[in-house]
Amino acid sequence: MPKIATIIGARPQFIKCAPVSKEIRKEFEEIIIHTGQHYDQNMSRAFFEELDIPEPDFNIGIGSGNHGLQTGKMLLEIEKTLLYIKPDIVLVYGDTNSTMAGALAAVKLHIPVAHIEAGLRSFNRKMPEEINRIVTDLVSKYLFAPTQTAVNNLQNEGHSGIYLVGDVMYDSFLYNTKKAKNTDILKRLHIKPKNYILTTIHRPQNTDDFQQLSDLLSSLENLNRTIIFPIHPRTKNKLKDFGIQIDYKNLYLIEPVTYIEMIYLENNSELIITDSGGVQKESYFAGIPCIVLRGETEWVELVENGWVHLVGNDLDKIPEIIANLLEIEKITKPLFGDGNASGKIAYYLCESSSERSPLGNLSQSQKLSL
Ligand code: UD1
Ligand code: UDP
Repeated sequence: MPKIATIIGARPQFIKCAPVSKEIRKEFEEIIIHTGQHYDQNMSRAFFEELDIPEPDFNIGIGSGNHGLQTGKMLLEIEKTLLYIKPDIVLVYGDTNSTMAGALAAVKLHIPVAHIEAGLRSFNRKMPEEINRIVTDLVSKYLFAPTQTAVNNLQNEGHSGIYLVGDVMYDSFLYNTKKAKNTDILKRLHIKPKNYILTTIHRPQNTDDFQQLSDLLSSLENLNRTIIFPIHPRTKNKLKDFGIQIDYKNLYLIEPVTYIEMIYLENNSELIITDSGGVQKESYFAGIPCIVLRGETEWVELVENGWVHLVGNDLDKIPEIIANLLEIEKITKPLFGDGNASGKIAYYLCESSSERSPLGNLSQSQKLSL
């Protein structure tokens, strides 16, 4: 059986890898390398248990650090691990430092790289994720794009090896929404459906500056609505470092929740306010309006369809947007595929490693029409 090494390390990658892993294991031997970028129980282990992700074969335990240190240490350890396991393909997800380090380590060993969630661009090179995306796409042989916009971005940059498959997060969302019916998270938080706003904040531009973070939290508090805020460890640590008091009346800071609890909270909220890439898409999957605490997004179709409202630094816009939200017509066009992106990825990878029908022999239209 051909061997795939999957490299993951951060919360959204565990969620993305769950459905793909199930599919690729039908045809491949999969070896999971966990970089250890996220390591708290509720940022890592909890996802493996809840989503039945196979235990990582290697956890190289890199942990936190500045970009250079973290990425450099990952490169060193991933290279050693790849030399040991000798995979036929390396699979990486999304846009974190674990993604870029995995892709770079593999390509330098001449191992073909497959990038899931390829082609996304915010066109803001100050975001560390944008650099990670550009570098990863540049060195990847198989570019699995979630949206037509991502395909266009890759074509504009002159890439080949592009496969429009849809979004694996949509696969995860559909599959787990069924299971989420059993959670008691609303009861535990003493909240009722459609009676709260759900928020997440973790981007450096919103957390790493004292004024920005405290203004943001004050704006949310001043909305005078119940706001549930599962707090990312980065944000929690910044609040502590800045000495920001967390005695809010409306803002309920809770520990990160599990994925199934999170999608239950999303599905039952009246509004989502976030700077997360994954959560803004899930607002669309759930049919819940969304305000994004950024000036731009790589998921542009959400904005074009009037779903996501970008506020950037203009926090005064939030109450106005909320007041007009009831006017929004709920359109849910299938922007992110049909819920079987994972199956398509497994199919293409399988084709690529089969001598009978190498992936390269399929025409681009055959590839995209699947
Ligand atoms: C990373 C990704 C980001 C992604 C996010 C998902 C990069 C550059 N950024 O951001 O693209 O959206 O993950 O959540 O790869 N920490 C803990 N415990 C943990 C993990 C982190 O306490 O288990 C704290 C540490 O103080 C650490 C900080 O969070 O320094 C930031 O963690 P890091 O992984 O560097 O970046 P994220 O902000 O999580
Ligand atoms: N998520 C979760 N628990 C939480 C917060 C988020 O399971 O407490 C999930 C969320 O549903 C989404 C993913 O984590 O699937 C998004 O990850 P994150 O916001 O950390 O990263 P991003 O998507 O911005 O890269």
